[in-house]
Amino acid sequence: MAQKIIIDTDPGQDDAVAILLALASPELEVRAITAVAGNVPLALTQRNARIVCEIAGRTDVPVLAGCDAPLKRPLVTAEHVHGKTGLDGVDVYEPELPLTEGHAVDRIIEELRAAPGEIILCPLGPLTNIAAALQKAPDIAGKIARIVLMGGAYFEVGNITPAAEFNIYVDPEAAAVVFGSGVPITVLPLDVTHKVLTTRARIDAFRALGRIGETVAAWTDFFERFDVAKYGGEGAPLHDPCVIAWLLKPELFSGREINVEIEVESELTRGMTVADWWGVTDRPKNALFIGDVDADGFFELLTERLGRY
Ligand code: RIB
Ligand code: CA
Repeated sequence: MAQKIIIDTDPGQDDAVAILLALASPELEVRAITAVAGNVPLALTQRNARIVCEIAGRTDVPVLAGCDAPLKRPLVTAEHVHGKTGLDGVDVYEPELPLTEGHAVDRIIEELRAAPGEIILCPLGPLTNIAAALQKAPDIAGKIARIVLMGGAYFEVGNITPAAEFNIYVDPEAAAVVFGSGVPITVLPLDVTHKVLTTRARIDAFRALGRIGETVAAWTDFFERFDVAKYGGEGAPLHDPCVIAWLLKPELFSGREINVEIEVESELTRGMTVADWWGVTDRPKNALFIGDVDADGFFELLTERLGRY
């Protein structure tokens, strides 16, 4: 039986690659793709999610729009990383695939109530939709099989401030709701994603795959310029595909169950994931925090799956 998942996303080139990886993998049944405001505003993230489904030839997958702003704060976006369209690197267009009716938060609640304990939520952006669903329908906390999210950092802080990773920074209150929900959580933080860099050889391997690979190469070519300028080195971290890769081949990753709390008070450290990696507190272990990845194995999996289109 394929694992049922819902991808909650703010495309974003790396989100787009994660969606393509999921849609190419028969082990996963994507019940819905729910868009959230993040890298770019909601009007663009929902459009971009529909573009990716069209590119993948998967217009059967329902795409819904969710929250257009964080729970309590003004939206912070990342056009400086992803470009004005959110999918810079290839021409962006108005997709034929229509948006599915209804609010994403209501669809998440509906799907979870219809299949209690069977669905894994895969947030790839700010956690606003997930937190809003938990607040609107507290009963779903016991119906979510697991939340596997890209966000946070321990050693590798930070990519939006010296203390925080973007997804958590944008909506720290939402992250606090999720990490306090009691739902089993797996965290793919910057500590892992900064180890899966799109080197020239890896991008060339994408390009050799044909249409889809060329699109992914064009996205990563654009996406990497920010990280190379900032961190030096070669290539950009492919953040969000790590979530899907963990579902497909968890053996590529390693981590430990620890306590993770979210800073929501201080403006200086807003959005910091306070990860008790060394167990120095007796706070409850609420997350499997991934710390390492077999980068070659990750790219082997990703390239093989993209080659299936
Ligand atoms: O910090 C990286 C995360 O922020 C990724 O999910 C990227 O898409 C952006 O949303
Ligand atoms: Ca994202």
